[in-house]
Amino acid sequence: MIFDEIFTGFGRTGSLFACEAAGVVPDIVTLSKALTGGTLPLAATIAGKKVFDAFWSDDPMHALMHGPTFMANALACAAANASLDLFEREPRLRQVANIASALERRLAPCRGLPGVKDVRVKGAIGVVELDRIDDLDGLRARFVQEGVFIRPFGTVIYLTPAFTIGTEELARLTGVVVKVVGDM
Ligand SMILES: Cc1ncc(COP(=O)(O)O)c(C=O)c1O
Repeated sequence: MIFDEIFTGFGRTGSLFACEAAGVVPDIVTLSKALTGGTLPLAATIAGKKVFDAFWSDDPMHALMHGPTFMANALACAAANASLDLFEREPRLRQVANIASALERRLAPCRGLPGVKDVRVKGAIGVVELDRIDDLDGLRARFVQEGVFIRPFGTVIYLTPAFTIGTEELARLTGVVVKVVGDM
């Protein structure tokens, strides 16, 4: 079983990894994005011992001969180490829990507005799902006009703030969402 935790890894959904909350131990996990705090591109594929051992060999016919050009890029690895150090020093999961309750509270006014199908929050992910978005580009432009960069897609307006976001910044983002959805 492979868990793609490129987006969810490192706390985004409220637990350090989504597989923990699901109570599942995957054979392989993919990680990226928050691995370096988004500062430099780096991805990692983590395998359990059974999978790892199956590809571990001095025989090139047996080993996983995977060598991308920028593998183990020293600068990106240093950024990842620094970001992981910060994860240990700073209360990331508490920050996520605080963001979750702020998103719950501040997006709640969207509930019941015409055209709103659902409002949901999971960790530091806040979603306002609409029945439909007729003019996606227009909606994106409207957010920019209000001074925030929010990128709706499909029928979903979503917020995935940095865990270090300030209370006022988050209130500004959610405030614009409530305003714009209310105006629609
Ligand atoms: C869940 C998930 N998997 C994979 C990817 C692609 O990752 P990468 O850009 O490192 O190939 C993304 C990118 O947004 C993602 O959100």
